Parts: sequence; C-alpha cells; structure tokens
Amino acid sequence: MLGKINELTAEIGGLSANSAGEAEELRIKYLSKKGILSLLFDEFKNVPSQEKKAVGMALNQLKNSAHEKIETLKKQFNQQSDKGENIDCTLPGSPFPTGTRHPLSIVKNQIIDIFARLGYTVAEGPEMEDDWHVFSALNFPPEHPARDMQDTFFIGTNPDIVLRTHTSSVQVRVMEKQQPPIRAIFPGRVFRNEAISARAHCIFHQVEGLYIDENVSFADLKQSLLYFAKEMFGQDTRIRLRPSFFPFTEPSAEMDISCSLCTGKGCNMCKNTGWVEILGCGMVDPNVLENCNIDSKKYSGFAFGMGIERITLLKYRINDIRLLFENDIRFLEQFRTAH
Ligand code: PHE
Repeated sequence: MLGKINELTAEIGGLSANSAGEAEELRIKYLSKKGILSLLFDEFKNVPSQEKKAVGMALNQLKNSAHEKIETLKKQFNQQSDKGENIDCTLPGSPFPTGTRHPLSIVKNQIIDIFARLGYTVAEGPEMEDDWHVFSALNFPPEHPARDMQDTFFIGTNPDIVLRTHTSSVQVRVMEKQQPPIRAIFPGRVFRNEAISARAHCIFHQVEGLYIDENVSFADLKQSLLYFAKEMFGQDTRIRLRPSFFPFTEPSAEMDISCSLCTGKGCNMCKNTGWVEILGCGMVDPNVLENCNIDSKKYSGFAFGMGIERITLLKYRINDIRLLFENDIRFLEQFRTAH
C-alpha cells in the first residue's frame, strides 16, 4: 500500500494540463467520489492495524497534495481568462519609469544651443592625442610645466601619446583641416592627473570655442561671451575679464560672472568676492595659426574654453563635483527637463 501511495504522489506531482477542461478531467480522475484516491481510501480498511498509523498519514498527505496540485492547475486558466474578460479600461495605467538626462548632458546641450544661435557648428576630436595637438602646435614651449607628469596622463611609455588635458587640441585639428571662416565649438572629455576633491576631478568636460575670420576683434569675443553668460545664467548676469596667460592666446583673459547665488553680495560659492571664474579665453596667437597653415596676416580670431562641471555646479547650486560621477539615481532623478 505504501508503495502505491508513493507512486501516486510522484504521478500527481508531475501532472500538467493545457486547458481548464483538462484540469477538470484530472480532478475527476483522482479526486471525485469514484476517483483513484477514493478507491485507495476504501482499501484502507484492509490494512493490518499495526500499519494503519503510517499508511493513514501517507494517505492524508497524498490527498492534500493532490488537492493542492489540481487547484494550481485550475488557477492558471482562471487567471488567464480573467485577463481577457475582466479588463477595466477606465483604471489609470501603471506608471512607466523613464530615465533622465545627466545634468552634464543637459548643460552641454544648452551650451551647444546658445552658440548655435550665434552661428557656431559642433566638432569633436579624439580623447587620446599626440603631443603636437595638445601642446606643441598650441605654442607650449618644450619645458612648459603643463606637459609635466603631474598633470598629464601618458599612454604606456610613449611620451608622445597622451590623454588630452584640454579640448584646445580640437582647435588644431579643425584649423589643420579647414581654412577660415571657422566658427565652431568642441565639447568633450578631458583628463588631468589631479587629486579628486569636492572641487576637482581627474576626468571632466570642457567646451572649446573657436572663431577665425578676417577682422575678428577682442570686442567680438567679449560680446559673444556676454551673450552666452546672460543666456546661461539669466539676463541680469554681468561679466568681467581679467588679464591672464595661455601659451596659445595673446592677449589672454579669464572671465568671471557675477555670482548667481548671491547676485554679487558675497557668499561661500564666490568666496565673498561676488564673482566666479567660468572660462579662459583670448585672441588666437599668430604662432598657432601658422602652425596650422593659416595666414596670420590675413586672419585673426578668438578662442575660449570652459568647464562643463563648473557651470553645472553653479547653475544647479551643487556643492560637490563628485555627485556628478557617482550615478546615484536619487541625485540624477532631480534633473527632469525638456532638454
Ligand atoms: N585650454 C584652456 C584650459 O583648459 C582654456 C582656454 C581655451 C583658454 C581657449 C584660452 C582659449 O584651461
């Protein structure tokens, strides 16, 4: 008897049905009044009394598991038919989570849009570069500290192959390929061997701008940057240009904007000065034009370069650059925008 019960337990455990009708047939076969289990219960009275306890328990277990099994077989079809028949079309749909653009992408796209209105196109260059495009063509003397191991990541042991430390390398690539007029911006990732902190990262992003034509003046540079600052940070924004130095521009300047947080009154963000630096710029050095086979007697132009992270932190009042690289969705979800 126990052998039979075991066999049946295995048999029922392995049952399957392809329709509600088949499941009902199985119920009749095993569990109806004249079904296989009833017959087995009938036989129970013939079991010798010393085996009754064990056989009785096994029989009850079999009955329970058979009920459960048939129930699950039936349920699968009930649920399926519910789907077809009981849909309530007036219920609101289930929400569907959509992703968000990264704040750096939002700001990069805004910068591209603003300069597109001034007639700038977009170009890109490689992140892995040679010394010529990152330094030599840009008028860096051979011993310039920016080439130092401290700042530049080299690829392998070849001192000529580097990860670009600025997007100014794309100026050279574009001027080598194209004669003026040139009016374009170059967004991209740059790399510097710097310690990571709340204000600096070893990987960040820049947008470079280049405008070369006949009779381009420093006044054109200033007016273009003023337009950009107002579009990006609001129409009340003021700018100031401070004299600076870059090997590839002459004269050179750094541009500050009036602090967007305290509007010039003085706060932590602007270190109580009322101004924050956002970019470097200047008139392209004639040596750079000549290095790219552009006639520096006929043409002049300006270039500028800004950090996308810096602008993003200012615009969204974020106090730690590392938040931009942690990819914590609780942070990223806050930047739902049309961009
Ligand atoms: N390449 C400079 C930097 O990374 C910025 C710059 C670009 C300055 C173009 C002048 C002109 O700091």
